[in-house]
Amino acid sequence: MPRASPADLEITPGTDADIPLVARLADAIWREHYPGILSAGQIDYMLAHGYAHEALAKFVREPGAGIAIARAGGEAVGFAAWYRPDEPETTKLDKLYVLPARHGRGIGRALIAHVEAAARVDGARTVILNVNKGNAASIAAYRACGYATRAACVVDIGGGYVMDDYVMAKAL
Ligand SMILES: CC(C)(COP(=O)(O)OP(=O)(O)OC[C@H]1O[C@@H](n2cnc3c(N)ncnc32)[C@H](O)[C@@H]1OP(=O)(O)O)[C@@H](O)C(=O)NCCC(=O)NCCS
Repeated sequence: MPRASPADLEITPGTDADIPLVARLADAIWREHYPGILSAGQIDYMLAHGYAHEALAKFVREPGAGIAIARAGGEAVGFAAWYRPDEPETTKLDKLYVLPARHGRGIGRALIAHVEAAARVDGARTVILNVNKGNAASIAAYRACGYATRAACVVDIGGGYVMDDYVMAKAL
């Protein structure tokens, strides 16, 4: 049976004012989690591009997209971001990050449930996501939350870097 999320967990919609907080959380989580999966250069490159103010503002402003912030005991401990990709009745879970010290306590599952609820309200019937092929712990977490591998892909993200990913999907 899935574990319950912490009793003091709060998940709230992110606004423009939360963008610096999201960028700070991402910086801390990426620099602890991704060494060994991505090179230091690729971590810097992806943080600079994916977490620039304008890149995050799109999630806050676009219809069918959003950012959610998880707080435990009032402290920001993770976030998720999603948008409508160019695929009918589909929401893409684009970012899901929890502080490493808080892993394994149901926060990721609660953020995924929040995104799935927002996707349903928006009329989506499927949630998709990309995850690095070497990110075994996160692949296991997605599987536990009902996601299955749909495809493998290598995406050129510029700067001489690629994302070597699985695409995972879940029917709502
Ligand atoms: C992926 C991530 C968001 C999961 O968040 P979390 O708060 O640790 O996850 P939860 O505690 O809610 O666990 C959700 C489910 O996944 C399972 N799970 C989590 N980590 C796991 C692991 N390393 N191995 C196996 N299963 C795991 C849990 O057992 C749980 O299933 P259950 O409720 O049936 O027991 C978190 O580990 C994370 O931020 N990872 C680093 C960043 C990252 O890689 N993000 C994804 C980018 S695509």
